[in-house]
Amino acid sequence: MASTMKVVAFNGSPRKGGNTEQCLKMIEKELSAQGIEMEIIQVGNQVKGCMACYHCLNTGSGHCVQKDAVNEWIDKMVEADGIILASPVYYGGISGGMKCFLDRAFLSAGNKLHHKVGAAFVTLRRSGGLETYQQLNAYMNTMEMVIATSDYWQAIHGLDKGEIMQDTEGVEVIQKLGRNMAWLMRVIDAAKGKIDPPQTGQRTMTNFVR
Ligand SMILES: Cc1cc2nc3c(=O)[nH]c(=O)nc-3n(C[C@H](O)[C@H](O)[C@H](O)COP(=O)(O)O)c2cc1C
Repeated sequence: MASTMKVVAFNGSPRKGGNTEQCLKMIEKELSAQGIEMEIIQVGNQVKGCMACYHCLNTGSGHCVQKDAVNEWIDKMVEADGIILASPVYYGGISGGMKCFLDRAFLSAGNKLHHKVGAAFVTLRRSGGLETYQQLNAYMNTMEMVIATSDYWQAIHGLDKGEIMQDTEGVEVIQKLGRNMAWLMRVIDAAKGKIDPPQTGQRTMTNFVR
């Protein structure tokens, strides 16, 4: 029997039990119904930002030189079959802590994340949802990840903890995202050994100056 598939989910909110966490729990329920395990990591504001030392790229180490939780989280992403990026909207963008984590993790992990299934959503009171959702997708887009979608952009509205439950359409969007993610993961799993992912080559970096 195939081993249980796993999803690791990153919550960019520093607020425990907040709207982002509540949405993640909804997705966990959908994944669990399809036999997929999920771990939630609350990134909050625990880690510092990228120092632009390029050590990870220059050495191909796959890890960051800064010694904190980021390397452990990178390992969890590499091990997982699926990755969820979730953040509250803060001034029209992802939370500061989430940006610190994602800049470092995605630069370091590099092609180790290729062809994993990804999903993103944001929580917000009123405005900035689409921009922030696209900001999360931008990380996964650079890693040849296969991105699960729903029937509307994944932004769900609420201010106080639990207020998102009143956004009926938003709740449905999140639940559909969970179901679509589970389906995509199962399809990719079923194709293992039959249809190989495409080969990828070294990227030719053209910096528009030479
Ligand atoms: C610093 C800060 C900035 C925020 N900026 C926005 C914003 O630009 N647009 C918006 O609609 N809501 C904004 N909000 C509201 C949060 O996005 C919203 O309450 C969200 O549901 C919080 O998720 P959480 O409960 O998981 O922390 C902001 C909240 C904080 C604390």
